[in-house]
Amino acid sequence: MTQNPAKKLAPSLLSADFAALGDACEQVRLGGADWLHVDVMDGDFVPNLTIGPCVVRSLAKKTTLPLDCHLMVRRPELLVPLFADAGASNITVHVESTVHLDRLLNQIRERGCTCGVALNPATPIESVRPVLDVVDLVLVMSVNPGFGGQKLIPYCLDKVRALRDLRPELDVQIDGGVKLDNLRRVLDSGATNIVAGSAIFETADVAATTKAFKQAM
Ligand code: DX5
Ligand code: ZN
Repeated sequence: MTQNPAKKLAPSLLSADFAALGDACEQVRLGGADWLHVDVMDGDFVPNLTIGPCVVRSLAKKTTLPLDCHLMVRRPELLVPLFADAGASNITVHVESTVHLDRLLNQIRERGCTCGVALNPATPIESVRPVLDVVDLVLVMSVNPGFGGQKLIPYCLDKVRALRDLRPELDVQIDGGVKLDNLRRVLDSGATNIVAGSAIFETADVAATTKAFKQAM
């Protein structure tokens, strides 16, 4: 890990047109995106159902951008090998979703991916403190997971700040409700890795909006 990780923008495909995902990847690449954020939902851990490893495998053939898979599923240990084989670069699992978190994080690394741990809004940062030396990033959810287009919950920024104070070298990803008009506040809290879905994909010119995010960062 390095001091002050480079800032990254990870557009979330959740708000893209699922019938044209390849084009969505290309538009954000042209705009200068660093990662592609892939929201994996199982209809159980969260009340929505989205993308599986088959889609990730196809995306990996279409894009050179690293695929950042955010698993919002129960028993993620059953799916981690499938997403790793499909071409995920980073796999993030929720601390609330698994019993053997340390084992799972190590399994992600053994599969050649970087690993992250995610926290729901009401989950305290103390729950991930023991694994901070094991993970490459901590994902702080700033909405309740399941859907794009929600409003950022302000108290989640306090958790970003606390994590940055605890580990200045840590990559802290924020996910949910990030827009161009609150991006400065989000960055000031210390977030280094920005996920944005609707704010990018629900605009007329996706590449230009991606570029505007990058410039503001
Ligand atoms: C929500 C997902 C997010 C979502 C963010 O459960 O984890 O990645 O796509 O969407 P916006 O940026 O629209 O809040
Ligand atoms: Zn996400």
